[in-house]
Amino acid sequence: MVAKILSGREISAKVRQELKEKVTKLKAKGLAPGLAMVRVGEDPASVSYVKQKGKTTEELGIYSETVVLPEETSEEKLLATIAELNNDPRFHGILVQLPLPRHISQDRVINAIDPMKDADCFHPVNVGRLLIGDPYLLPCTPHGVQQILIRSGYSPEGKHVVICGRSNLNGKPLFAILVQKRAGANATVTVCHTGTKNLPEITRSADILVAAMGSPKFIKANMVKEGAVVIDVGVNRIEDATKKSGFRLIGDTDFEALKEKVEAITPVPGGVGPMTVTMLMWNTIMAAETQTGITVG
Ligand SMILES: NC(=O)c1ccc[n+]([C@@H]2O[C@H](COP(=O)([O-])OP(=O)(O)OC[C@H]3O[C@@H](n4cnc5c(N)ncnc54)[C@H](OP(=O)(O)O)[C@@H]3O)[C@@H](O)[C@H]2O)c1
Repeated sequence: MVAKILSGREISAKVRQELKEKVTKLKAKGLAPGLAMVRVGEDPASVSYVKQKGKTTEELGIYSETVVLPEETSEEKLLATIAELNNDPRFHGILVQLPLPRHISQDRVINAIDPMKDADCFHPVNVGRLLIGDPYLLPCTPHGVQQILIRSGYSPEGKHVVICGRSNLNGKPLFAILVQKRAGANATVTVCHTGTKNLPEITRSADILVAAMGSPKFIKANMVKEGAVVIDVGVNRIEDATKKSGFRLIGDTDFEALKEKVEAITPVPGGVGPMTVTMLMWNTIMAAETQTGITVG
């Protein structure tokens, strides 16, 4: 068996096209969805992520502005900036690019964002709503994973989904999404971590296996069931002298070996990665519709 490669790039392009059409219709009704991004400092990865998000807003017709603050910005100043953005009606979504400099409390900053404008869906109110089955927005990467599954014809409903990784960013919210009694979810979900005993035995029982550990090529062919669907969230930089950059990206799965055994698998890069920014755009548009009551269905 050679696996079907689930191209997050292609699915993402399709979702973006749908969102672009939605924005055009919303604008015709007088609503221009807006996203404010805040970056503190010059961390190269953060600079590149924010730039990429800004480019995507342009591509979709979403209004966006980036507030860039110096590395030494005080927490007080950052909280004041967020308070201003919370009150600025041009912005329906706000995101603060993480990680923040060490002298700033990430939790206090996330808590300061108006939950209605919480484009990343990190605010405890939104995480809580997700868990109780009354979600407002969905966190971007886990929502991207769910969309890849649904749009590729691999609905998680009734399936055993095993998630390796329990971070607040990926594993836990993905659990919260997929366990709900809803269409496109309703799965039996097992979450594994470093305290898990007999991990390979559990991963081998997965109909759908999600690797979100940040551990390069950790999932080997003998850890998956034949015919399983594998979603690789991991993004790991490894040295590669043949590349101009000096590195390449690989996932948490042994992709080449797994693709001979599984039904379908996402590649890295080009799998889950492209979905994350797309789902951020989705949230901005949803937030704009909810806040204004202007919708296009
Ligand atoms: N594609 C995207 O858009 C996207 C977005 C975000 C992150 N990522 C990538 O996803 C990966 C995970 O990110 P994260 O922020 O969720 O990572 P994280 O906060 O470091 O969490 C990693 C999780 O994996 C578990 N884990 C690590 N090694 C393990 C092992 N050997 N056996 C079992 N469990 C293990 C950890 O268990 P403990 O809790 O016990 O420590 C932890 O729960 C990274 O490669 C990151 O770059 C990709």
